[in-house]
Amino acid sequence: MSTDTTATASSLRYCRRSNPARARLPRNQILIGDALNTLGTLPSASVDTVVTSPPYYRLRDYQIHGQLGMEDRVDDWVDRLVSVCDELARVMKPTGSLWLNLGDSYSRHPRFGAPPKSLLLGPERLLLALSGRGWIVRNKIVWAKPNPMPASVRDRLNTTWEPMFLLVLSPRAYFSLNAIREPHRSTRAPITKPPTGIKYGGGKRPPWAGPLAGSNDGLLKARAEGRSGHRLGKNPGDVWTVATAKFPGHHFATFPTALIERPLKATCPERVCGSCGSPWRRSGQRLQPSFRCNGAWRPGLVLDPFLGSGTTAVVAERLGRDWLGIELKPEYVEMATERIQADRARREEVINNNERRNEK
Ligand SMILES: C[S@@+](CC[C@H](N)C(=O)[O-])C[C@H]1O[C@@H](n2cnc3c(N)ncnc32)[C@H](O)[C@@H]1O
Repeated sequence: MSTDTTATASSLRYCRRSNPARARLPRNQILIGDALNTLGTLPSASVDTVVTSPPYYRLRDYQIHGQLGMEDRVDDWVDRLVSVCDELARVMKPTGSLWLNLGDSYSRHPRFGAPPKSLLLGPERLLLALSGRGWIVRNKIVWAKPNPMPASVRDRLNTTWEPMFLLVLSPRAYFSLNAIREPHRSTRAPITKPPTGIKYGGGKRPPWAGPLAGSNDGLLKARAEGRSGHRLGKNPGDVWTVATAKFPGHHFATFPTALIERPLKATCPERVCGSCGSPWRRSGQRLQPSFRCNGAWRPGLVLDPFLGSGTTAVVAERLGRDWLGIELKPEYVEMATERIQADRARREEVINNNERRNEK
C-alpha cells in the first residue's frame, strides 16, 4: 500500500488520460434498488472507497422483496455477497478500498450450514472466498462495544465485538495513515544505550524471526533518536472501542458515526484529480496531486451499497467528501434523506452563527 509520501515535482508523472465514463457517476444521492443490479449501472474505476455493512445472515428481516440476508443457507448468502463484491471491484478505482462491517450468526439447524448453536462463520467464509478471487485482506479490525446488547445466554459468552475488514485491490491502494494518527500515550527519554533488540534494526533480523515475521525498524530508529514514535502520532491499531449508536428513526442496525470516521479519513482522499481521478497526497501541510494534473480537483467519493439510515453519507459530508448510496427499502431512503438534510442544515447553522459572531 502506498502511504503519505513527499512527491517532488520532478518525481510526478503526467496526469493519465481522463475517463469520460467516470463523469457519469452520480454524486451525493441515494439510488433506490437492489445493490447488485444498481452497481451494474455505475461506471468502472470511479469510486475511491466503499464503507458498508451488508445485512448479516438471518439476523434482521427488512421485510422487503429481494433483501439480502434471508437466504436458505449461509453459503447462498456468501455467494450473493461475492457477486456484490465482484461489482464493487469493478466500480472501485485501482487505488480503492473496501471496508466491510459484518457480524456472524448462530445456527439453529444444520440446514443453515452448521450444527445448531454453532457460529456459522459467515464472515470467515466470505473473506476466504474474496481472498480466493484476488482481494487483498489488509486488516481485521475489532469493533469493541463498551455498551453491548445484553444477552440471556448461559452456556457461552456474550458477543461484545464485531469485525470490520479492510480489503483492497492492489498493493498500492491509497491509505493515509497520517490522517488517523493518534497522540502517543507516553514520552520516552532518549535512548543512550541501544536496547537489546536494537542490534537487529537496519534491516537485520533476529535469528528467531520466521519468514513472515514483521519488523519494527521504524520504531527502533525513533527510540534511538529519543522519540517515543512517529512525530505525527501513533498508528491507532486494530481494536476500536466505539459505543453502539441509538438512531431515533425506525432503522435498527445503524453504524455509529465514530466507527466510520477513520475509514473515511484514511482511504477516501480529501481531493482527487478532476481529470484522471488519482488521489492528491499531503506533503507536510500541502495537498498536492500525485501526477502532473492540471489542478482541477473534486472531493474523493465513498460508496455505501447498503446505505440504510444514511450514516456513511452524513459522515462523508461532515468530512467534506462526496458520497453515493444504494438502498433497497424506499422507507429507509426517505429516512436517510431527511437525516442527511437535517445534518446539513445543522452544519450550515453553525457556520452562519460563527460568521455572525466574527462580524461583531
Ligand atoms: C445493516 S443495514 C445498513 C445500516 C447502515 N450502515 C446504517 O448506518 O444505517 C443493511 C441495509 O441493507 C438494506 N438491504 C437489504 N437487502 C438489500 C439489497 N439487496 N440491496 C440493497 N440494500 C439492501 C437493508 O434495507 C438495510 O437498510
